Amino acid sequence: SSFDLIIENGMVVTASDRFIASIGIRDGKIVQIGDKLEGADRVIDARGRYVMPGGIDSHVHISQPQGPGIEMADDFESGTLSALFGGNTTVLPFCLQERGQPLRETLKAYHDLAEGKCYTDVSFHLIINDPTDAVLGQDLPALIEDGYSSLKVFMTYEDLRLSDGEILKTLDVARKSGATVMIHCENEDAIRFLIDKHELEGNVAPRAHASTRSVAVEREATHRAISLAEIAEVPIVIVHVSNGEARDEITRARQRGLKITGETCPQYLTLTADDLEGMDWEGAKFVCSPPPRDEKEQEECWIGIENGTFDLFSSDHCPFRYNDERGKLNPKGKTNFRHIPNGIPGVEMRMPILFSKGVLTGRVEPERFVALTATNHAKTYGLYPQKGTIAIGSDADIAIWDPEVSRTVRHADLHDASDYTPYEGMEINGWPTTVVLGGKVVIDEGKLTGEKGQGQYRKAAARKVS
Ligand code: URP
Ligand code: ZN
Ligand code: ZN
Ligand code: ZN
Repeated sequence: SSFDLIIENGMVVTASDRFIASIGIRDGKIVQIGDKLEGADRVIDARGRYVMPGGIDSHVHISQPQGPGIEMADDFESGTLSALFGGNTTVLPFCLQERGQPLRETLKAYHDLAEGKCYTDVSFHLIINDPTDAVLGQDLPALIEDGYSSLKVFMTYEDLRLSDGEILKTLDVARKSGATVMIHCENEDAIRFLIDKHELEGNVAPRAHASTRSVAVEREATHRAISLAEIAEVPIVIVHVSNGEARDEITRARQRGLKITGETCPQYLTLTADDLEGMDWEGAKFVCSPPPRDEKEQEECWIGIENGTFDLFSSDHCPFRYNDERGKLNPKGKTNFRHIPNGIPGVEMRMPILFSKGVLTGRVEPERFVALTATNHAKTYGLYPQKGTIAIGSDADIAIWDPEVSRTVRHADLHDASDYTPYEGMEINGWPTTVVLGGKVVIDEGKLTGEKGQGQYRKAAARKVS
């Protein structure tokens, strides 16, 4: 027959349009979009459902070493399976350069971990942790050319932070080679100062994590990162923005004509610092950086989503187990908040949360939902138009959303390898019940029909530099 698969009668949504149409798929690609298509091995009737590009989560941590005695819950198998059930067809995890490690070795290690394991397609970001002259002068430009076109740098964490000078040198490489730099904006010296103060007061429970990483700590670093990008004359992405003041730094920078992209995450729309309180160190479940703030800042993050300051909505999936010696409650973690590993699981809940609380409440147009969860990720990180849209010639990566499904979130129903979800008990309307990856139906009405290893590594193109 002319098609391998037809998806008909659904409300097809792209970042700019919505229309009822049939999609014809052959050899893994979208080959036709029309009123009525015929002749396929399989036809899916998507009447009453949204047919959207598969999600692209450009901020997930999988199998990333976290220091002695601590282990990330998800490997590439469980992490990408969980992503798939949440409607994603591509994820972008980080490859963390160890100090002294050549970048080729870093990448080889993560490729080995991912090989044969993935349920979604995968593209990689590099975390630059040791920006020596050799790394910046030779290794990095070659790798950017080779399909590793995005980097993350940290202004916080003792063992990860770069100095302003190192960040500037890294940004300069990005300017010359067209890489996209993501910056984690929190002021490490200010955090140190606040941690020491809290420890002296005997204030060491999980809630202190949020107090020692205050809005001012994030706002100052956001302002500084933007200034460094302005000085280096290169676009950057400010990742995981948690509040209105940091958001306003981005707004002001854009008004000055700078190309700054903002990212926020579901935890900043739905959780608060008060969640870090709770019996028996339960608050550890919500420890992530930046921390969730309060209801006012949740609203500020919603406003950033609505007014376009945020172009990316990512999970920052960074899963640890709660009841596990190697997880959140490691022996030291139970004595002082600063030993609790930072990060929470969320790759499966990212899109359902925004769909339920944004699209179905009328706050977020379906087109904007697609832009925030797929199209803008592909554009920002060099995967567009192969990924992130429904168009002729694009990969047939599609999620079919049923707005009639209602679920109460239970970790037992999710597919990650953590042992909790920070969203336990949340009421969710709408779910991506069928997922197509490269033309193959890999989740069929909620049932896994795909297999481990179906996901492929994808190179990401650098920005054009003039
Ligand atoms: O707490 C968090 N977000 N952990 C993940 C690492 C990062 O900074 O994104
Ligand atoms: Zn970060
Ligand atoms: Zn305090
Ligand atoms: Zn992260």
